Amino acid sequence: MNTSKIKKPELYKEGNKKIEFAEMHMPVVMKLRELYLKEKPLEGIKISAALHVTKETAVLIKTLQLWGAQIFLSPSNPLSTQDDVAASLANIDNLIVEAWRGMTNDEYFMAIKDAAKFKPDIVIDDGADLHITLHEEMPGVAEKILGGNEETTTGVIRLKALEKENKLLYPVMAVNNALTKFMFDNRYGTGQSSIDGVLRSTNILIAGKKAVVAGYGWVGRGIAQRLKGLGARVIVTEVDPIKALEAVMDGFDVMTMEEASKIGDIFITATGDIDVIRAEHMLNMKEGAILANAGHFNVEVSVKDLETISDSKEIIRENNVKYTLRNGKHLFLLGEGRLVNLVAAEGHPSEVMDMSFANQALSVLYLIKNKGKLEKKVYNVPYDQDQYVAKLKLETMNIKIDELTPEQEKYLESYK
Ligand code: ADE
Repeated sequence: MNTSKIKKPELYKEGNKKIEFAEMHMPVVMKLRELYLKEKPLEGIKISAALHVTKETAVLIKTLQLWGAQIFLSPSNPLSTQDDVAASLANIDNLIVEAWRGMTNDEYFMAIKDAAKFKPDIVIDDGADLHITLHEEMPGVAEKILGGNEETTTGVIRLKALEKENKLLYPVMAVNNALTKFMFDNRYGTGQSSIDGVLRSTNILIAGKKAVVAGYGWVGRGIAQRLKGLGARVIVTEVDPIKALEAVMDGFDVMTMEEASKIGDIFITATGDIDVIRAEHMLNMKEGAILANAGHFNVEVSVKDLETISDSKEIIRENNVKYTLRNGKHLFLLGEGRLVNLVAAEGHPSEVMDMSFANQALSVLYLIKNKGKLEKKVYNVPYDQDQYVAKLKLETMNIKIDELTPEQEKYLESYK
């Protein structure tokens, strides 16, 4: 009996078609799927995954299922599930899905808990809610886990904090830290899809707008670049002097949020930290300013402050709420201040998730291969895995690159 909990089972055909389209655009994962199809390296392995339930996640999950795993899939955000994809996945054997779009916080954490109760051998997470739940609420289960993967910067930071306090109960592969993940997914994936989210919920013209990007990590860089390409005048805010300097030399205006708040038309946060845009900034803002967040948690734009300084709010269209402030001005908050790219759009395009999820799949195989040999630490993915993913991606793009001649190799190894 399939014990999946989804909301719109009738949408499975739409889900199937979307997943098929994603498969066409994720050739690296598909190549890996094929390579290990006969061997079934995950036979007898139970995996709990807390991932955004998108068509790209479906391609990864189907691959792991075809390799023999039994899987429990829960979401990694209450608003990011694509119900048609969840419906399609719920029809697959050995796969339980507990996800629907618009879960309450309680329903979301119930799904995470159910994923923990599945007693997995391997855990795949995006943001570390499942890892942390296992550690805090089910240490008995966690201690038996063979290993885990973590998809995102925020999740890796949380797990490194656990490691530092000697509380990590199983080895974790920091998939986020693979070069073929963060240089592409965080930059080009979030860069494009965050703007997609802003456009789908507003349809504003970007050209000529003053766009403020908070944070100049890989995500902030991607968003700033894409906004610039669409003709925005981009302002960056930072706390790190090196990143701030880089933003200046990349051609952006850099200033404090206090200054930027007075002139921005659109604000997108990408810092991973709390309270980046607070009441004092909101009260400075121009009439009609738009606020969105691209960081993992809904903590960067202080929604609490926004509610406190507002007299009323009104939903004006999907994922767009107009707040009327006590000072008479209006601000528009997109996607409740949650990840705008997944809530108001479809997340990163398949082509970048191809590399991220190739790293997820290979890291699962690495954990199995190295069973019992790894310490309770956060590990970077092996460099040869990164190179392999890049090589496969180039091959699927029909791009050939040069090789070093023996003389060149020798030259590079010599001190002379
Ligand atoms: N994170 C960002 N974009 C995503 C996508 N399309 N699928 C799964 N996780 C994501």
